[in-house]
Amino acid sequence: MERMSTYYITTPIYYVNDVPHIGHAYTTVAADVLARHYRRRGFDVFFLTGTDEHGAKIAEAAAKHGLTPKAYVDGIVERFKEAWRALEISNDFFIRTSDPHHEAGVAAFLQTLFDAGEIYKGVYEGLYCVGCEQFKTEEDLVNGLCPYHNIAPTLYSEENYFFRLSRYQETLLRALTDPADPNHYAVNPPTRLNEVLGKIRLGLSDVSISRASLTWGVPLPFDPTQVAYVWIDALLNYVTAIGYPDDLARFRHYWPADLHLMAKDILWFHAILWPAMLIAGGLRPPKEVFAHGFFTIGGQRMSKTLGNVIAPADLVARFGADAARYLLVTDFPFGTDGDFNLDSLVTRYNAELANDLGNLLNRTVSMVNRFTGGAVPTPGAGQPVDDELKSLATGAFERMDRAFEALDFMAAADAVRDVVTRANRYIEEMAPWQLARTNQDRLATVLYTLVEAERLIAVALWPFMPAASDRMLDQLGLRGQTSTAWGVTAPSTRVSPQPRPLFPRIESGAASPR
Ligand code: MSP
Repeated sequence: MERMSTYYITTPIYYVNDVPHIGHAYTTVAADVLARHYRRRGFDVFFLTGTDEHGAKIAEAAAKHGLTPKAYVDGIVERFKEAWRALEISNDFFIRTSDPHHEAGVAAFLQTLFDAGEIYKGVYEGLYCVGCEQFKTEEDLVNGLCPYHNIAPTLYSEENYFFRLSRYQETLLRALTDPADPNHYAVNPPTRLNEVLGKIRLGLSDVSISRASLTWGVPLPFDPTQVAYVWIDALLNYVTAIGYPDDLARFRHYWPADLHLMAKDILWFHAILWPAMLIAGGLRPPKEVFAHGFFTIGGQRMSKTLGNVIAPADLVARFGADAARYLLVTDFPFGTDGDFNLDSLVTRYNAELANDLGNLLNRTVSMVNRFTGGAVPTPGAGQPVDDELKSLATGAFERMDRAFEALDFMAAADAVRDVVTRANRYIEEMAPWQLARTNQDRLATVLYTLVEAERLIAVALWPFMPAASDRMLDQLGLRGQTSTAWGVTAPSTRVSPQPRPLFPRIESGAASPR
């Protein structure tokens, strides 16, 4: 029997020093849309998300709340899980770096590197940004401050263990630029690849992989007075979650990961440090690392100080989970920086979802009730269906395949929007309310064509809007009819007797954040 292709996709594991916001949701929703798309195409998908729970930043946050790190993170983790439930995230596993299985995996991997001579002891002195959990060079700073966290890094000096990253300059360059290289991996979009290549060409320094002054972490198996550096610990989640090191059969089933998704802020770790660690440990790098852009809100960085942090729950309360998902990932090109503006999201919601899509369904269900007693008619004799609408509807799936392959969520959505636009125009052109008086055969074909096209629209939208897709099919009387082929609607299917707005209009006054 042919083995089903696997598709292993990951989000970053998020820091639990604070509650989730829509920055985290952006990546997680994007990954969920892809996971659903590949599941629907029949892939054996493993979709991983989780939380990054060790390190100085979390220990500091816990201390501020007067809690032990473990008690503190247990509380925040629930908030992440709630947010993902509210957004219909379909992850197959939720990893926590405080899971004993993960901790054991980190220790085992570091022991492997140590035994292979990839780790040595040395002294580190440098400027450390606790926000990033990363050493900074003078060039990384803007006016002496970390540009991501607006805080001055602290001078830090300790005896630590180091990973010989400097050895991997040539190996990584070859792996990135030669598709035939056994360690080949892709970094996308291409501008990010160029940045990564530039950084590697400048030369790589060895990386401190442990902390002596911290206890909230995984003790090094070869020196338990130190704990693993939080990034080393965190990156390893991608392999421990699928069974490394004790269930190697399962691990090999999904590894290498098809896609590590994240924003550009943490690309260095995923595109340079992580592949080098894997190669050093005798494992393959992931197939692709993709860094999307960073977004602002109304032109400003989201920050507690500015008070403009939007929680996933705020977005769900305003738009519903489905529309929130759709609007998030199709508002600006995935891969470039963008800006979210709540007013323009409301405008888009009303135009694309309430009007174009919602009204299309509403009109169709109403017309089937009014003109054919609620039963979808058999296409009329000698009345062919509209070729343009039919080919747009059936062709949408191939267009989506290609768009998702390139992580182009806007193009994937356009493939469906074009069907919606054509279907609305078809209603205007055919004027079924006139055909009801003049041409019953024609009317039957028009109604059948609309129902079948809208069934395909619902099916196509499922990765973006799973619950709305089901609600659409329910109103059409076609729940579960998810084939992507034309002609599945059985004549005499009964549509809902009472069409309900799929996306109730939002008054634009309700747009300001609460
Ligand atoms: N814990 C590390 C990741 C370890 S992965 C092995 C971390 N956590 S984080 O909580 O800071 O999450 C960073 C990620 O959150 C970004 O890479 C991105 O996926 C997402 N985003 C956070 N804010 C965002 C925006 N404003 N815009 C886009 N993505 C955002 O780094």
